Amino acid sequence: VIGKTISAPLLAWYDRHARDLPWRVPPGRGRADPYRVWLSEVMLQQTTVAAVKNYFIRFTSLWPRIEDLAAADDAQVMAEWAGLGYYARARNLLACARTVAANGGQFPDTRAGLLALPGIGPYTAAAISAIAHDAPETVVDGNVERVVARLFAVQTPLPAAKPELVALADTLTPPARPGDYAQAMMDLGATICTPRKPVCALCPISKCCDAFHQGIAADLPRRAPK
Ligand code: ADE
Repeated sequence: VIGKTISAPLLAWYDRHARDLPWRVPPGRGRADPYRVWLSEVMLQQTTVAAVKNYFIRFTSLWPRIEDLAAADDAQVMAEWAGLGYYARARNLLACARTVAANGGQFPDTRAGLLALPGIGPYTAAAISAIAHDAPETVVDGNVERVVARLFAVQTPLPAAKPELVALADTLTPPARPGDYAQAMMDLGATICTPRKPVCALCPISKCCDAFHQGIAADLPRRAPK
């Protein structure tokens, strides 16, 4: 059974409306450097895009390549990380940089190879594979969970719905431009398919959206009461 096909209108929207972010290569301009994708994704894990921008610019000007970060002084990296929180991320960042640098400075290009690195879990491995290697991996963060819950009008509350949302997201990932597609889903969630008051009138994929047709987009995803 052929499911929903959202990639063509979503990518056309992304070509016009992609956010200009310092770790991004504009749509159609080729692949991003795995080092910059990895660094941005680790920073973005528990921190907002707005807060990460300046840290990313500072880190990449101090340490433009992974070998530079690997050779950095631990205390300086921790000091530059101050404010991003979750200091285990910074320790893993250094451990990962040193492992990759010791292996020739190239990030592994397989999911399994990426998962073996310190601090790289399924989310970060998928993001590096899709965005830097243009592999058809499905990248599911909180934005994507919300978009998918609405597209399929999933009534199961979070967090129990997560496996269902990942499986549904997987059915949407296109073979072409998976990196742009992954970032388009994030941008759609951040700017149109927002948690409150989604702007369905501007959404490139509202035609395919079950929650839009049912008039319940703003009510999804549901959340289990605390
Ligand atoms: N949030 C996490 N990763 C992101 C990315 N690559 N672009 C925009 N927002 C993100």
